[in-house]
Parts: sequence; C-alpha cells; structure tokens
Amino acid sequence: MTETRRICLLPGDGIGPEITAEAVKVLRVIGEREVMTFEFNEALLGGIAIDETGTPLPEETLAKAHAADAVLLAAIGGPKWDTTDPDKPRPEQGLLGIRKGLGLYANLRPVKIFDALRDASSLKPEFLEGVDMLIVRELTGGLYFGSRARETDVPGAATGGGEGMRAYDTMEYREYEIERIVRVAFDAARTRGKLVHSVDKANVLESSRLWREVAHRVAQEYPDVEVVDQLVDNTAMQLIRRPAQFDVIVTENMFGDILSDEASMLTGSLGMLASASLGDGTALYEPSHGSAPDIAGQRVANPLAMLLSVELMLRYSFDMHAAADRLAAAIEAVLAEGWRTRDIADTSTLPQKMVGTSAMGDLVVEELG
Ligand code: IPM
Ligand code: MG
Repeated sequence: MTETRRICLLPGDGIGPEITAEAVKVLRVIGEREVMTFEFNEALLGGIAIDETGTPLPEETLAKAHAADAVLLAAIGGPKWDTTDPDKPRPEQGLLGIRKGLGLYANLRPVKIFDALRDASSLKPEFLEGVDMLIVRELTGGLYFGSRARETDVPGAATGGGEGMRAYDTMEYREYEIERIVRVAFDAARTRGKLVHSVDKANVLESSRLWREVAHRVAQEYPDVEVVDQLVDNTAMQLIRRPAQFDVIVTENMFGDILSDEASMLTGSLGMLASASLGDGTALYEPSHGSAPDIAGQRVANPLAMLLSVELMLRYSFDMHAAADRLAAAIEAVLAEGWRTRDIADTSTLPQKMVGTSAMGDLVVEELG
C-alpha cells in the first residue's frame, strides 16, 4: 500500500494558478517514483476568495489548511483589489491571516546562487563567490501584526496642531516571540556555517533593544555559533557590498520582508526565491515573489521559486530528502543546459532556449526522469 500525503493548494491570484499547475505536475512525477500518493485539496485565498466569498480568508480555507499535511501557496493580490479604504477587504489580509491562523512564526528564505545564473544577478560574478545564506524572518508579529488604526476628526492638539486624519502602526514584540525565532536561526546555523547575524534597529527602537537582549541570552546556549548584531540599514548595504559574509540572518517581520526581496536579486530574480513557513502545526510553502499581475495569463512566469518551495516541502514536512535532492538537481540541470524563463534570461540566452511556464515545468519533469 502506498502512503498518502495531503497537500492543501492555494493557487491565489495572478500567476498563482499557472505556477501551481507546474508544482502539481512535478509532485505527481515524484509521487510515482517514490511510491507516495500526493492528494491535492484546493482552497480559496486572496483576491479570488474576496470575489467568490467576500472575504480573503474563508473559514473553509483555514480548516482545509489545518487538516492537510502541508500547504502550498502560490501568490495573492493584484491591482483589482488594491484599495486604501480601511473598510474594504484586501488579499494580503488573507495571507497574513493564514500565517497567523496556522501559527507560522518562522519564515525561512534560502538565498542560493545557481552557477548557471551568475550572469543574471545584479552584482558582478566575483561578489557572488561563496554566497549561500538563509534569511529567517519572524512572520506572525512585529509591525505587520501590531495594533493600527486610522482616526478621523482628531482634535488639533493630538496631531501637534495640524488638522486631518491620523494613522499609526505598532511594532511590538514579546520575549517569547523573539526567543523562539532566534532559536530557529541558531538551530539552522548549527547545520550550516555556524554564524548568525541578528538584525535590528536597536539604536532607535525599543522593540529592537529587547530583540538584541533576548538574542544574546539565547546565544549563550549556542557557544559553537557566532552571533553578530547588525543594524538593519547596515545589513541592507552589506547585502550588496559583501553578501558572502552572511550565513543565517534572523530578523523582525518587516525587516525580513524587505531584506529578503533585496537578497533575491543576488540570485538573479525574485522568481528564484523559495520559502518555508514553519510553526507548531501544518507548515506552509510559498515562493517569496508576488502574483505578478502584469504577466498573469501570459504563461511566461518563472515556476522555479514554486518548485524550489516544493523542494522545501519535501524536506521539512515529508522528510523525503532523496526526492528533494533529485528535484534540486533537476532544476540545476535545466538551468545548466541554458533553459530560461524571461526573468532570468540575459543577453547570451539563445532565443530558442527561452521557455514559458509550462515548458519550464516539463523540462524539470524530464530531468526527473
Ligand atoms: C511576502 C509578501 C507579503 C508580506 C505581502 C504580499 C503581504 O511581500 O511574502 O514577502 O509582506 O509578507
Ligand atoms: Mg515580501
């Protein structure tokens, strides 16, 4: 009898459904080979959920996600649902809501350079030597979850005398939230380069000073791992100046959001950055890129960040390391043969080696044999 793993699929918006189809294709082939049945259960999240149910995260979606062995999310959002009206639903609330709902406090974003893509990077190849880092982003706290409001009719005194509306967001962290995410980073560093950069803004923010204190306390339990405090603005600069200095970066939600987009350009494209969101229950895997509404439906989106997210799923949720290694090798081989989606193409890419979303998926399937 074959074993079964239940995967909740959240294709979402924009290019989401196109790259989800490639993930399913690849998982089916892996399943046949590994004598593992992957069972897919699709649910609504984001803009499409707003259109069909009026809310970006229907209860049914959260229930399906909880019931699954793993969740694979593609991307959400698009101009159709963009609004600054605080009373209107937004797709991003669905994404933040499912992260919170599943308790996914640790977001791992590996930044790895593919040899074949060195020329696609925004940095000169010599700066990429030795780049292999893991960004550990806190995912259920901080500025994205703190209390916020917009107030109308604020009396002049409360706004320093000026008239008009007032809006605020709060960056708040509790000790246990910092402790558990920092621990994830130190545990990861132990299996890698044994170096943690704890990134904060302790020269200004109180929440960062607490972050730093807790990070140091946790660090004492890991004498074999070196810890470096780095201010977030400096990190933004160092990522471009000397990216090879990093092994594991651990940081607050918004800092991690920004720094991981920046770091993705080292790999050549945001279309190459996978992520795993882990907590105490069902884990969720998603590419770090967005729904790319500008190219949605054109079948040109790069499915590789999604397939690399599948690789992380095989490792972290299913303990299928041999299959994960084979998938990683297949992706590497396809790139080494020169195949490119347009986001990772460079001037030397032959026109006949430029492929669309599903051809890229087929090439990976072929490599998997
Ligand atoms: C990401 C995205 C999301 C985030 C957005 C879409 C809410 O940018 O996963 O990095 O900020 O977390
Ligand atoms: Mg982001």
